[in-house]
Amino acid sequence: MGVLFSAASREFEIIRDDWLRSLEEIAARGAFVGGPPVARFEQAFAGYIGTSEAIGVGNGTDSLYLILKALGVGPGDEVITAANTFIATVEAIHHTGATPVLADCRSDDFLIDAEQVRRRITSRTKAILPVHLYGQIADMDEILDIARERGIHVVEDSAQAAGARRKGKAAGSFGIAGSFSFYPDKNLGAIGDGGGIVTSDAKLAASVRKLRNHGGEVRYQHDVPGFNSRLDPIQAAALELKLKHLDEWNRARRQVAGWYEHYLGPIGGIELPRHRGDESHAFHVYVVRVDEKARDRVRKQLQKKGVLTAVHYPLPVHLTPAFRHLGHQAGDYPVSEAFAGQILSLPMNIAVREEDVALIARELASALGAIHV
Ligand SMILES: Cc1ncc(COP(=O)(O)O)c(C=O)c1O
Repeated sequence: MGVLFSAASREFEIIRDDWLRSLEEIAARGAFVGGPPVARFEQAFAGYIGTSEAIGVGNGTDSLYLILKALGVGPGDEVITAANTFIATVEAIHHTGATPVLADCRSDDFLIDAEQVRRRITSRTKAILPVHLYGQIADMDEILDIARERGIHVVEDSAQAAGARRKGKAAGSFGIAGSFSFYPDKNLGAIGDGGGIVTSDAKLAASVRKLRNHGGEVRYQHDVPGFNSRLDPIQAAALELKLKHLDEWNRARRQVAGWYEHYLGPIGGIELPRHRGDESHAFHVYVVRVDEKARDRVRKQLQKKGVLTAVHYPLPVHLTPAFRHLGHQAGDYPVSEAFAGQILSLPMNIAVREEDVALIARELASALGAIHV
């Protein structure tokens, strides 16, 4: 037996024939950068998210960076984001020259604590960058209120939350812009790297379109110093096809989460993730917590039984060598730090079946029962 952690290849099988046909069309036309597949996907994605524009870029790190650059974020500015996130969020802020200011996560749902965001606002704060971590939409009402009071921007790191909706509104459409990663195992994943920016701000969209393409939309017309970060048409063709399945696939993920709740609920020693029970969680990953003395041994035992798990993420950003220069100490973000030792991501993808979850629950119970902490 074996339960895959993610199922990008299963998703690929579903779009395979149509995607191969698109590839033939791209090759026949000979336009290997940009072109109709990118424009078509951008239009479809904007329509899906409910923004007036979507702009395809090279990956989800560039998308964050390009949004911040287009908003004029730079040296001397501060951008507040989550201590508990993938390092890319903080890297993007760093590379603009601004200072990343971190806020700890809440102790029940892993999401950025809006109260801490409020306390970290200074006269230099240029933007708040909430992360819809693990696929769940952060507390946008609070965060938008804080931003409105202070006249600062909200940029959503929606890399993990494609298709999550709160009261009908999609992740990425709350702030001035939303940033997506189409890394293959994301809920909307390409078959290589890819990223996307959504916004209804025409000026910001125009600026990002230039920045992603050497500073201009027309060849050899360079209005600003730009970058090369474009969504590949071969990826755009795959994404356009996958987008049509996204709601159904997110429903499948929520079903898997429901099974986990049913089968893991009665087992002692596991803390299940709190969520709102609606579409605001797209369950990019399903993260439980176990005693930190048991976590790594539990992982090994599950692996022996063919159940692959992961840890998102083993070290909070402020304790990584990359961001030591921010000057934080162990203890500065106690919730994120404690969680880093306890979290365990269980298989979550469209191929997980109820019997897989039942089996994972049995193995987890036996692994936890066998470990006396
Ligand atoms: C929260 C978050 N932000 C940003 C990124 C960066 O995306 P990419 O890997 O496409 O650069 C990722 C994904 O890896 C992510 O999970």
